[in-house]
Amino acid sequence: MKKRIRLHQVRVGMYVEELEGAVLSLPHLGPVASPFDVDLMMNSHAISVVINTQKGLDVDSDHNEVQLDLIDFESTLASKFSGRQIWHAQEAIQDARRSVSDVLVEARLRGALYLDAADKAVERIMLAAMTNAGAMIAVAKLKKKDEGTFLHSLAVSALMVTFGRNLGLSEEAVRVLGLGGLIHDLGKMMLPIALLRKPGKLTVEEMDLIRTHPERGYEMAKRIAGMPRPVLDICLYHHEKFDGTGYPHRLAGSAIPHVARIAAICDVYDALTSVRPYKRAWSQAEAIETMMRSTGHFDPDLMKAFVSKMVINGTIH
Ligand SMILES: [Fe+2]
Repeated sequence: MKKRIRLHQVRVGMYVEELEGAVLSLPHLGPVASPFDVDLMMNSHAISVVINTQKGLDVDSDHNEVQLDLIDFESTLASKFSGRQIWHAQEAIQDARRSVSDVLVEARLRGALYLDAADKAVERIMLAAMTNAGAMIAVAKLKKKDEGTFLHSLAVSALMVTFGRNLGLSEEAVRVLGLGGLIHDLGKMMLPIALLRKPGKLTVEEMDLIRTHPERGYEMAKRIAGMPRPVLDICLYHHEKFDGTGYPHRLAGSAIPHVARIAAICDVYDALTSVRPYKRAWSQAEAIETMMRSTGHFDPDLMKAFVSKMVINGTIH
């Protein structure tokens, strides 16, 4: 029987029929005879691997169930982007990782925001989004438990940069959007990790605590000299809703800064379409349909622009 597995699940004793989305084409598909063969496959940067379980070993069945959705997603990725595009996207994320971690981890440990590190990360994201936005945003959707906040921040930043450019904003305005996307959830770094990772339903008290994150992030970012006002607006107002039912200030319509209305769309889009080990990701169509239907949440003009300039034209998948 043929079975699609993830690259890191390849073991000695398996029989490999296909490497999907590989940058390097390997001449020696077939039995995985040694750890050296495993290494070679890892270096192919394939997204997924097809094994034949009649000719070689199978994977742990435990792994199988949990990973099914992820594997589905990865094979879809491989069908939409070339191996090279995916590889470049992975490189860009790796490059940005150190700077983004510096920003978010230091914020948690020391209550300080390092603008230099954030600027560096935004620079990298802007560069990658110039040529490879779709692949980067798609690859960042694969969120493991411990990488959730990091990859979500990076994906929202990339979405905002790309959306800003497609709206015809200046590169300076786009940079501000990128920085805002990166630190929009900074205030969550002040909350207990156990709360952020709690599976299942939150209590009313826990929800109230989570809802303090826009103000906490704003207070922290405001202490940094030279922090652009729109970045502060993104931190503070990205959970406001167009009809005035959001938080923390229940602002409505154009009283919500334009940049925060952009952030709200990108934030929710990434959250809905992300693949998590414990929940099924929504397809792009499902996410967009739900967002279009949730009247009152988003700025309707911006939502229409998001659909026409980002979705219909294939900028994001
Ligand atoms: Fe948030």
